[in-house]
Amino acid sequence: MPPLPCAELHLHIEGTLEPELIFTLAARNGISLPYADPADLATRYAFTDLQSFLDLYYANMDVLRTEQDFTDMTRAYLRRAAAAGVRHAEIMMDPQAHLARGVPLETCVNGVAAALSTSETDAGISTSLIAAFLRDRPAAEALEVLRDLLAMDAPIIGIGLDSAEAGYPPSLFREVYDVARDAGLKCVAHAGEEGPAAYVWEALDLLAVDRIDHGIRCLEDEALVERLVADQVPLTVCPLSNVRLRAVDAIGDHPLPAMLARGLNVSVHSDDPAYFGGYLDDNLAALVDAFGLGIDDRARLAANSVRSAFISEGRRQDLL
Ligand code: ADE
Ligand code: ZN
Repeated sequence: MPPLPCAELHLHIEGTLEPELIFTLAARNGISLPYADPADLATRYAFTDLQSFLDLYYANMDVLRTEQDFTDMTRAYLRRAAAAGVRHAEIMMDPQAHLARGVPLETCVNGVAAALSTSETDAGISTSLIAAFLRDRPAAEALEVLRDLLAMDAPIIGIGLDSAEAGYPPSLFREVYDVARDAGLKCVAHAGEEGPAAYVWEALDLLAVDRIDHGIRCLEDEALVERLVADQVPLTVCPLSNVRLRAVDAIGDHPLPAMLARGLNVSVHSDDPAYFGGYLDDNLAALVDAFGLGIDDRARLAANSVRSAFISEGRRQDLL
């Protein structure tokens, strides 16, 4: 199955740290890991829910210390993404997760940005950066980090909202999103992954987001589905993530075919590919295996990803 050109719109760059690279960076930075080797680390990737994943995801980031570490991680991702057919990638990063460990904002932002600045020549992928805020930390902290990003003129095109969802509704972050929008940034937010459909409504109505990350629980609310269909709000769905984090029981139970059938603007992405069993092409292959998705559906998913990207009309036409 040759990959169709597509846009990766839901990817946490820290979620691309493969076990081998974690060991390489740990050795380079003189960090000793509590695992025998990369295979031993990978055996811990049996998650029971979002939080059980986040605990390991944040712990493993400790190997990222220098600008070069962030650049190497991002370059490794871009190489793999090119093989998956990705031609444009909007990459999320979690600055607060690094600040909390004492890594300066400039180190993480400049390190990732250095790799993105050469992505077209290195990998044939146009790229942009989205700063995601951790919803299980105070909104005041997110606001401070956003102001710091704006003050340093960080090369970001938008903001996102991620981390533990249940109990942390979008409404807490209204002011952050108002400031971001006023600064000309695009707005996305995770909603309806583990949290309820009500959080998707809040992300739309209170944060005025341009896209919803995940959104799979929208199907529990008929009025919400009608709103999302009417406005063709992009939903960036990550099937392997949903299975590995037990948001759905098995790939055969994934709601993506139902979402397509309802006329929702869904596209397929990889979330944290190093942790969930694969990159964008692997997510599509899992759907093809489970549901026999044909070329029409695959072409529609690829086209949806391109029409939902934050790119110029010229670039969109190049990719369609
Ligand atoms: N951070 C990284 N991956 C995430 C996910 N799937 N949900 C929420 N926050 C995340
Ligand atoms: Zn995500």
